[in-house]
Amino acid sequence: MPTYPFGRALVTGASAGIGESFARLLASAGVPVVVVARRYDRLVALASEFENIEVLQADLQSEIGIDAVIRRLNDSDKPIDLLVNNAGFGTSGTFDAIDPQRTTQEIALNVNALVRLTHAAINVFSPRARGYVLNVSSVAAFQAGPTLAVYAATKAFVTSFTEAVHEENRKRGIHISALHPGFVPTEFQSVSSAKDSTSNIPGFMWLKPERVAHAGLVAVARNKAISVPSILYKSLVVVTKIFPRGAMRRIAGSIIAD
Ligand SMILES: NC(=O)c1ccc[n+]([C@@H]2O[C@H](COP(=O)([O-])OP(=O)(O)OC[C@H]3O[C@@H](n4cnc5c(N)ncnc54)[C@H](OP(=O)(O)O)[C@@H]3O)[C@@H](O)[C@H]2O)c1
Repeated sequence: MPTYPFGRALVTGASAGIGESFARLLASAGVPVVVVARRYDRLVALASEFENIEVLQADLQSEIGIDAVIRRLNDSDKPIDLLVNNAGFGTSGTFDAIDPQRTTQEIALNVNALVRLTHAAINVFSPRARGYVLNVSSVAAFQAGPTLAVYAATKAFVTSFTEAVHEENRKRGIHISALHPGFVPTEFQSVSSAKDSTSNIPGFMWLKPERVAHAGLVAVARNKAISVPSILYKSLVVVTKIFPRGAMRRIAGSIIAD
């Protein structure tokens, strides 16, 4: 059983996938967790399996939902010292064909909610000179994503933003890290309409959600700015840095066109 240095965590998007794995790992390790998502029944079912899970239903695409989570972060009766900004989704398809309302919601969740909650958490942690923020990005952050244009751009934002805030807080006792999963079999593929485009991805490229979540928790505990779980995805990220940007863009575009 892993041990973590956190006192109490808040995990967004904990009703499924990687977020649920974060919550299970933390609760099993004895770290109380506030689980946040829209599907209340899922959160309640998860909480019923543990004695240290608190449920907070919130839609993070809305100001009301963001404010509810910020209020909880500010509650000093049961102080939180780890925020995991995990909730997110993608839109797949050529950009012109995607409903603009959907991309607005995607940016609201992947970018706006994450920025607002990170801001609130840092201000709660600052007087204590201690705290942790883990922002879930994606390996898509390192490469422009034809047919995932908005999603890849939101994750590039998450990585750039997290790196900057990591550096601002490096000497203030506040750890801030960005986690970059590769393919993880979750509801993400159906929610993001990416089931068809990922059906040919070979098995060795899929990572278990628990493994990804554990890697993220270890990374933020150690204050690593950037975490990329698995040798395979670490290597792919190195390739995107070595190859000229234009060449990588063409390769990504040609894979889609084939
Ligand atoms: N799976 C992958 O291959 C992969 C790869 C790289 C990065 N990621 C990133 O990993 C994170 C988790 O994804 P996942 O794969 O675990 O996806 P998932 O299984 O679809 O889970 C997404 C979670 O986000 C929550 N969520 C969605 N919209 C929300 C909203 N408006 N307000 C509050 N919560 C909301 C969902 O709960 P409700 O629907 O109940 O609200 C759910 O708990 C995302 O940031 C994703 O971009 C995933």
